Amino acid sequence: PRAAPAVGEAEVDAVAEARALAAAAPDLAALEAAVRGFERCRLRDGARQAVFADGRADAPVMVVGEAPGRDEDREGRPFVGRAGVLLDKMMAAIGLDRRARTAEDGVYVTNLVYWRPVGNRTPSDDEASMLLPFLERHIELAAPRALLLAGGVPAKALLRTSVGITRLRGTWRRWNGVPCLPVFHPAYLLRNGEKKREAWRDLLALRAMLDGDAPTFEE
Ligand code: URA
Repeated sequence: PRAAPAVGEAEVDAVAEARALAAAAPDLAALEAAVRGFERCRLRDGARQAVFADGRADAPVMVVGEAPGRDEDREGRPFVGRAGVLLDKMMAAIGLDRRARTAEDGVYVTNLVYWRPVGNRTPSDDEASMLLPFLERHIELAAPRALLLAGGVPAKALLRTSVGITRLRGTWRRWNGVPCLPVFHPAYLLRNGEKKREAWRDLLALRAMLDGDAPTFEE
């Protein structure tokens, strides 16, 4: 007996299409246009608009969240709601700012998924796989010194791991040679204030890496 395919044929086509579109984008503006024109993801149907990125693309740190929420869907920018306010405070605590005047103090913010899932449900594995080629091209084009993976969903998709965020957080990983630090999602920290101590430790590790400390990588 044959094992059932992990994804259906339609999804395979959509992943291939996403990969081809992403690969063909020579710069961030072209990639954003490709995302906005990508018709295969049904999340589009429930969203007002695509939410692509915010901040300085030339920043040393690129934050990857999960998906836009209600506020982001309305404004068209990632992390502008309550979780975004906390994210900005976390970044400010280590001297980083989306609106920084110099690249080295900047931060660039995006999500794994560009359209708000109806009811803020977690994006499915199929949705994540379909949109991952865009994120991967996004990282290649922005070429940050470090990736901050906010929460288990982007960490799982990008690092292709089933390790949960509780064990993953604070451990340096690599995606295509780019150092990645998985951290608790700020929305999770809003609900679990006692986890902020660990989040703070992770932020300090990121700061130390930016300041020249060579991270120790897991695997
Ligand atoms: N949560 C996310 O993961 N991303 C956003 O843009 C907003 C909230």
